[in-house]
Amino acid sequence: MGGATHRSNGLNSRRSFIRLVGGGAVLAATGSLTGCSAELPEVALQPWRNPDRESDIRRFMLAHALLAPNPHNLQPWMADLREAGRIHLNCDGERLLPETDPFGRQILIGCGAFLELAVIAAAQRGVSAKVELFPNGAPADRELPKGSRVATLVLGEPGSAPADPLFAQIVRRHTRKSAYASDRVLPETLLRSWDETAIRFGLRSGVATGAAAMDPIRRITREAYEIEATTARTWLESARVMRIGPGAIAANPDGISLNSPMVRALHTVGLFDPMEVPVKGTSSLQRVMDRWVPFETASGVRWLASPDNTRGTQVASGRAYVRAHLLATAAGVDMHPLSQALQEFPEMRGPREALHQTLGLTTAGQTLQMLSRVGFATEARGPSPRRSLDALIRT
Ligand SMILES: Cc1cc2nc3c(=O)[nH]c(=O)nc-3n(C[C@H](O)[C@H](O)[C@H](O)COP(=O)(O)O)c2cc1C
Repeated sequence: MGGATHRSNGLNSRRSFIRLVGGGAVLAATGSLTGCSAELPEVALQPWRNPDRESDIRRFMLAHALLAPNPHNLQPWMADLREAGRIHLNCDGERLLPETDPFGRQILIGCGAFLELAVIAAAQRGVSAKVELFPNGAPADRELPKGSRVATLVLGEPGSAPADPLFAQIVRRHTRKSAYASDRVLPETLLRSWDETAIRFGLRSGVATGAAAMDPIRRITREAYEIEATTARTWLESARVMRIGPGAIAANPDGISLNSPMVRALHTVGLFDPMEVPVKGTSSLQRVMDRWVPFETASGVRWLASPDNTRGTQVASGRAYVRAHLLATAAGVDMHPLSQALQEFPEMRGPREALHQTLGLTTAGQTLQMLSRVGFATEARGPSPRRSLDALIRT
């Protein structure tokens, strides 16, 4: 989905524009119409503040894991702590994206990122955490049943793991969705460490740079965005998880948060309707497409691909993705996934196949798991909302 280029509030909306009743659209986060603040409610940011304060090792792990990147910020995870020395991670069946992610591939990538941060956090306390994937069996390829058990983390003895240098980046990592500088070069050492990380998880990665390599990708991702925006059920899936204004964000610190004064004012007087689907050939769609423009700014486009597309590979992709993002954060580099063209709903088939072709992923089974623009965000943005630790724990 689009991304939050126009949010002034550090939020991670994939669609940050607002469509007005009657077909108009406005930026969601520019200007200050009312003089009120675009700051996010503190309660929604609290989980970022001090996850280190948790003394219990499993709570410490989860307090860091819940900061993982995940599709639409739905935070699709539940942790079962009823068995000592273990964390059972279940996928929250109420937090899936059946239209844009019909097979649950992206949801499992988010769960993989969650697991990796949990492992890194355990190591910070000198404890190993073994990941036992799908202890009840892997879900079928095309359906992620509600409440699927994704993994069990089995904790080792004290002193069983060395600290991971990426730990310090967990609270610093954010998906920045503003325009990126177009004239800055990515550090060579970072490119190498991205490749090594992918290989460590049985994956491959690469970075397309320069107009000749990036332009075809830009064309495909733009077309994919338009398809997602004009397909009613995929558009509405996003609209339904929008949280507008501090009250809604505090009540539901997840999904797509819209908090600019302008949006709130228009919403209050009933002047926009996020449920109105853009129509091809109208100026309202054009305005929607204008919101995509900053997403074409970057130093490069990083891809992460796998030789197959098993459920285990999808989780591994999430682990590798978040490590790459932490490495980027340490190097002062930003990373922003653009996932539309990777999605598996039928209308997206053309762009998905074209993208695989363009990236040379033509062997049967090879799957593009993540595509992200990478570079240097021109605006500093803060964290996105998170649900509280207690909201995801079952004891
Ligand atoms: C599998 C996956 C797909 C994603 N796809 C997109 C995307 O298409 N557009 C976008 O703006 N953000 C995308 N994101 C980033 C999420 O929006 C972001 O991680 C989430 O809002 C939480 O924000 P944070 O990463 O700053 O903590 C994706 C993240 C994951 C893990």
